[in-house]
Amino acid sequence: MKEENRLPAHVAVIMDGNGRWAEKHNLPRTFGHRKGVGAAEAVVEACAEAGISYLTLFCFSSENWNRPADEVAALMDLLRTYFKEDVRRLQEKKIRVLFSGRLERLPDDIRQKAAEVSAVKIENPRLTVVLALSYGGREEIADAAKKLARAAAAGDISPDAIDEAAFSRALYLPDVPDPDLLIRSGGEKRVSNFLLWQGAYTEIVFSEKLWPDFSKEDLRAALNEYASRNRRFGRV
Ligand code: IPE
Ligand code: IPE
Ligand code: MG
Repeated sequence: MKEENRLPAHVAVIMDGNGRWAEKHNLPRTFGHRKGVGAAEAVVEACAEAGISYLTLFCFSSENWNRPADEVAALMDLLRTYFKEDVRRLQEKKIRVLFSGRLERLPDDIRQKAAEVSAVKIENPRLTVVLALSYGGREEIADAAKKLARAAAAGDISPDAIDEAAFSRALYLPDVPDPDLLIRSGGEKRVSNFLLWQGAYTEIVFSEKLWPDFSKEDLRAALNEYASRNRRFGRV
């Protein structure tokens, strides 16, 4: 593998295991989520230090809406707190923050705040952090299909012009490259509807660590594991 390929340009993370961490410490699940924010902050820092260009964090899935109302409310409150201070601190450090998902399902204040945050222009960002909120890979693909069908019905695109590249451009964040590395904490070995289209050739690293225990060291270990992989993309 060529040297420049050893560092992924885009790292995506399924931050799983907050609830089990809390149970292990005899605490309510929401404490695990609160502790998980700290782990996310450490990983953002570690990615900036390592020279990663894009980091996508799976914060809340479209299926997570089916959790008990009090847990959903607690997660939304955590986002509100995060938006109040932490996001601005990131932007001061030249870290750009974007969002991906069906944001229209989020409470009004959070949706508005997300729009404000992503409108802040950062010149030559050190790192772009994408927060996946109310995100589902199948929903994203269905939404892209709908967008293209509308464009075709309006005569703006010919059905014959709908190829892989056109489809990629219809996704939520067409300018963000496909993830090179996907990390999932919490021990489960599945992708749980995350980045289905973009993940076609993504390298996956599973960590047994519950997300609140995931450290900068664990991130660096995953980067080392990635560097040792041989990406063939179907070739020999
Ligand atoms: C991930 O942790 C955070 C979210 C899905 C919001 P979980 O809440 O899924 O934690 P476990 O998997 O139940 O331990
Ligand atoms: C995936 O974790 C979603 C996030 C980390 C936000 P889940 O805990 O929701 O996934 P499953 O239910 O184990 O597949
Ligand atoms: Mg989970």
